[in-house]
Amino acid sequence: MNKIIVAIDGFSSCGKSTMAKELAGEVGYVYVDSGAMYRAVSLFSIQKGWITETAINADELKKNIESIHIDFKTNAEGKSETYLNGENVETDIRSLEVANGASRVSTLGFVRHELVRQQQLMGLKKGIVMDGRDIGTVVFPQAELKIFVTATPEIRAQRRLDEMAAKGEKANFEEVLANVKERDERDQNREESPLRKADDAVVLDNSYLTREEQNNLLRTLFNKKTY
Ligand code: DC
Repeated sequence: MNKIIVAIDGFSSCGKSTMAKELAGEVGYVYVDSGAMYRAVSLFSIQKGWITETAINADELKKNIESIHIDFKTNAEGKSETYLNGENVETDIRSLEVANGASRVSTLGFVRHELVRQQQLMGLKKGIVMDGRDIGTVVFPQAELKIFVTATPEIRAQRRLDEMAAKGEKANFEEVLANVKERDERDQNREESPLRKADDAVVLDNSYLTREEQNNLLRTLFNKKTY
């Protein structure tokens, strides 16, 4: 069976990571969450005081971009976790503050340039599933299988709300929906590598699909490319 690169792009909170992780686990591929890398840069910048409500200190971030080292390690339960300069930051990078910062640092060309460089190195041997916003368009334009995942903003907001409720976090639907729409707007309209479907990507709208239906669809597409 030949090894391929699977690029999964799409909007926030549409289940990209879950499907990418499950496919990688089933077929024995490496899974890389590229959003976690932007989140790690955001966390680093917040810790240094370079991101405030109103501004980003892009000059300081640029000077220090090469001192940000991001790795993924698999924990005892087989789950991939994000490390920033040797420290496990998997929980810290999932906060709303870090997500909002990630959406902002990801508009900076020098940040994208550095992270894309690292992501391309990870794909040299193929056998990788990477999810993000520009994987099929910029990171791996040669990927053999490209998926563009979408779901309505309302459905994504409800999924996010359910996830937060499961963690005991309180939020209201309108607020979460506004945040989903704000991030969509920023992801699609930034100058650097905006979120868009690659011409050769397959659209997977999972608004009304169960997780199992979605995984089966993805597996069928994968099998077609590898057998
Ligand atoms: O997928 P996520 O929510 O973890 O991504 C965090 C932020 O990083 C999101 O605002 C979009 C951005 N991102 C990006 O610009 N390019 C990627 N390849 C992955 C994420």
